[in-house]
Amino acid sequence: MDLARLRHLLARESAEAERRNPRSRAAYARADHLFGRVPMTWMNKTAGAFPRYLESARGARVRDVDGHEYLDFCLGDTGAMAGHSPAAVAEAVQHRFTALGGATAMLPTEDAERVGAELTRRFGLTRWSFSLTATDANRWAIRLARAVTARPRILVNSYCYHGSVDESLIVTGPDGQGTARPGNVGAPCDVTLTSRVAEFNDLDHLERELAHGDVAAVLMEPALTNIGIVLPEPGYLAGVRELTRRHGTLLINDETHTFSAGPGGCTAAWDLEPDVLTIGKAIGGGIPAGAYGLSADLADRLLGRDDLDLVDMGGVGGTLAGNALSVAAMRATLEHVLTDEAFARMHKLAERFEAGVRAGIDAHALPWSVSRLGARTEYRFTTPAPRTGTEAAAAGDTELEDFLHLYLANRGILLTPFHNMALMCPDTTEQDVDTHTELFATALAELAG
Ligand SMILES: Cc1ncc(COP(=O)(O)O)c(C=O)c1O
Repeated sequence: MDLARLRHLLARESAEAERRNPRSRAAYARADHLFGRVPMTWMNKTAGAFPRYLESARGARVRDVDGHEYLDFCLGDTGAMAGHSPAAVAEAVQHRFTALGGATAMLPTEDAERVGAELTRRFGLTRWSFSLTATDANRWAIRLARAVTARPRILVNSYCYHGSVDESLIVTGPDGQGTARPGNVGAPCDVTLTSRVAEFNDLDHLERELAHGDVAAVLMEPALTNIGIVLPEPGYLAGVRELTRRHGTLLINDETHTFSAGPGGCTAAWDLEPDVLTIGKAIGGGIPAGAYGLSADLADRLLGRDDLDLVDMGGVGGTLAGNALSVAAMRATLEHVLTDEAFARMHKLAERFEAGVRAGIDAHALPWSVSRLGARTEYRFTTPAPRTGTEAAAAGDTELEDFLHLYLANRGILLTPFHNMALMCPDTTEQDVDTHTELFATALAELAG
């Protein structure tokens, strides 16, 4: 790829974004009272000099304050996988908040058991508890795993992401040993004291680490989704389950993103048998909600321990977790929006999206790859598709990524800012996908010169 050409095109698209989005640019310039000028510093990750400001969103469409409409394949990095403000969720939330009243009262609602039963039907785990974020679901799952195993360490895959969970911010260094993920902010202690790391798809590496006998739980995504998509090779996940059982280590599947694989995530699609499952983002249909499910055996072991304070100060916290509003939103999302039928449609659309990207890559004989996990598709600037997180990380190219994101955004398409990910929601159409395919092809033609 001609670097000078790429830089010229990137500068052109940045200038175009400034021209097209004067209101967003001015709002950003005025935001003196926000840390980093944004509600959350990660919002600065967007390509270009400022983020586009949201005006409204419905289904698979987003409008910015400058009056432009976008086909949204970012979908709030999965938080809006049910589509923006789906009618059934809006109705349930209105009913709970306005008609009945009472969003958070420290009292359970009957919706919670309905949600628990539906999560059990989908994922197989039988005892559920709620959080407001996937990060918290992971943190609380980790605490329970340490309590029940009396072991100190958590093992994760290199270049995983499970939220800002301190234990997970470890990667494999050049010498093959675990080391802090570069740039990590304010670690409470050296991460190698709390954690171990193994490469995804590497059972020998996993076995070596588990053999120390100090790992309470493996926390993993069944497919990595936060460093591009890295799919498991045949036999890998069965091997993880076998090794964790053999070494007395619990297995926590984080299905927050891999939920795209189907109504019961990868766990149901691939017959996995985790001890704990964590999830967040999409299950609230846009309202903050998360959950973790325990096997009946694990739940009984925990509840049978009279030395563990599971109800007061030593409990898992989260005053607003399991609040009536979140639970009503989860129930509506699961019963009416992210249904089995919706997933079947979303998967077909993602296949179409993948085929469109592959055609573009093939037309220019680019050394890129495209991977799909159900309703989620992602392309990476390397081929064959990476097998591990470390390989995937090495294939990053910020300038190329920024150009593609800006090129598409300036023409009405949003991808997730963190990588080249596109997600389908129940409102996405074939026409939306084809529009992306056409624009992706013209972007590649411009790069080719
Ligand atoms: C797999 C996975 N787990 C957990 C999280 C954390 O989610 P949240 O930031 O909503 O807590 C993320 C966020 O991207 C994720 O991808």
